[in-house]
Amino acid sequence: MPAALVRLLALSCLVHAGQGAYFSQEPEDQVVVAGQAVTLPCVIVGYQGMVQWTKDGLALGGERDLPGWARYSLAGAAGAGQHGLSIAAAELGDDAEYECQATQAALRSRPARLTVLLPPEEPVIEEGPRVPVQAGRAQNLTCRAGGARPAPELRWARDGQPLTGALYAKEPMADGQRESAVSTLRLVPSVADAGATFTCHASNPAAPAGRQVTATLDVQYPPTVVLSVEPPTVPEGGKVRFLCEATANPQVTSYRWTKGGMAIAGAEGPSYEATVDHSFFTQPVSCEAANAAGATNITTLVDVHCE
Ligand SMILES: *[C@@H]1O[C@H](CO)[C@@H](O)[C@H](O)[C@H]1NC(C)=O
Ligand SMILES: *[C@@H]1O[C@H](CO)[C@@H](O)[C@H](O)[C@H]1NC(C)=O
Repeated sequence: MPAALVRLLALSCLVHAGQGAYFSQEPEDQVVVAGQAVTLPCVIVGYQGMVQWTKDGLALGGERDLPGWARYSLAGAAGAGQHGLSIAAAELGDDAEYECQATQAALRSRPARLTVLLPPEEPVIEEGPRVPVQAGRAQNLTCRAGGARPAPELRWARDGQPLTGALYAKEPMADGQRESAVSTLRLVPSVADAGATFTCHASNPAAPAGRQVTATLDVQYPPTVVLSVEPPTVPEGGKVRFLCEATANPQVTSYRWTKGGMAIAGAEGPSYEATVDHSFFTQPVSCEAANAAGATNITTLVDVHCE
């Protein structure tokens, strides 16, 4: 058969199957959250032939139930020209560019991008949930959330009040499709931060409400000491009690008492009793309270009055 005739026959075949065929609805770019169903619409008027979808250029097949693609099928009434591609329980692997093609009419739709979103996994504060910190010493809180598409936004709050200034970075995960993000919050904790709740909140368009994790600061500081003398003034030969009152976190582990720079034997608790003699005129009494965070030493002189 002459080549010209073959072309002519092929052309008449096309004309027969799809003369005047056109799309009354084409697929459009769509976004779906993983696990949800989605349909890419395709309605062709004036066409009875085979309709085929392509995914990133790969033909999915000509049958409506698309064997080999368990979650894919053609939706709608074929007789009415409806050939939407229905995808059940979207997965990351469905993220691709799709085209609806009326093969015998040589019609192809515009390419439609299907974007599959994934919510972030539970965020984690690496140092949490209870973070031992030293008052006055810089400390980072590091929050990570992965498994998301797109990368999650991470926001910090202290007792519910938003905080700014955290350092944010995101990076692709090994599969090249999901992303993780990390946010570093630099703190210089003060005693006032003891028990404060720091929250890291992760969200992305797949999970606008997001999820969050909290950590509390266990602010450790050297003892704060008040050294008092009871009674405040005492006659020589009278009894006097020194009281070393310490506020500390963690707890005070030791008290050391000195008089005139010399250790007082047997004085190991938060109080020390003595009978005042002339040496108290010149030798001040000191109490040093210590915990794991440090030691504080306070000195006092006794107001001895002579009779
Ligand atoms: C806190 O994080 C920043 C940024 O990653 C780093 O430069 C700094 O050394 C960290 N500081 C501490 C106390 O770990
Ligand atoms: C506390 O301070 C006093 C005065 O400076 C000093 O004499 C004493 O040795 C100190 N106590 C301790 C336990 O170091």
